[in-house]
Amino acid sequence: MNREAVMKSYRRHAGGYDLYFGAVLHPGRKAVLARMNLQPGEHVLEVGVGTGLSLPLYPRDVRVTGIDLSQEMLARAEDSKQRLGLDHVALHCMDAERMDFPDHSFDKVVAMYVVSVAPDPVRLVNEMRRVCKPGGQLYIVNHFQQAGTLTGFLSRVAAPFTGMFGVRPNFMLDRFLRDTRLVVAEQTQVNLLGYSTLLRADPGAVAPASSRPT
Ligand SMILES: C[S@@+](CC[C@H](N)C(=O)[O-])C[C@H]1O[C@@H](n2cnc3c(N)ncnc32)[C@H](O)[C@@H]1O
Repeated sequence: MNREAVMKSYRRHAGGYDLYFGAVLHPGRKAVLARMNLQPGEHVLEVGVGTGLSLPLYPRDVRVTGIDLSQEMLARAEDSKQRLGLDHVALHCMDAERMDFPDHSFDKVVAMYVVSVAPDPVRLVNEMRRVCKPGGQLYIVNHFQQAGTLTGFLSRVAAPFTGMFGVRPNFMLDRFLRDTRLVVAEQTQVNLLGYSTLLRADPGAVAPASSRPT
């Protein structure tokens, strides 16, 4: 999907998002937070923050900046922020593939269920690398197809729902890693039946270019 299609899709479906993808993907959000090992005073960037389902999970002694392309998704995140008094959270409408933030602005940068929806996942990851401080960490949780696993079957079952939200079918983990040249420091399956994959990577580590054609 291009940028306009993403905005249109989430404008249309913002109202139903939490019902479809709230509880079912929440173990993955919790697993990311559990691994982030956040320290007081750290500044986290969450790209594609959506309706803000993860926001109550962050400790109040860290600063959290959440961005999203969709005004309608962000309006719901803003409601949660106000309702729960999340004064440590700042929300902005911004394209994560062209961020306004200077280089090395954040200690940790996270994308939860965004890379298979974003118009250009490689550009998104490059921007996540750019705004993360050297020595910081990137976290990505997403559904990826992986050869020979149960997740292929599960994606076909979920396709009618995920398609409505612009999720790319057949989003392969090996191709994503090859194209982004991320060096994975930690990889674990999360959510029911290991449907999603959680990745942690050093923003400065770049895998050698693959000689295989894309
Ligand atoms: C599947 S939702 C995930 C929302 C949330 N992270 C969660 O855990 O439920 C994907 C979100 O990514 C946003 N998105 C997609 N591409 C984006 C981009 N290039 N920049 C910012 N947000 C983007 C969409 O607008 C949508 O809110």
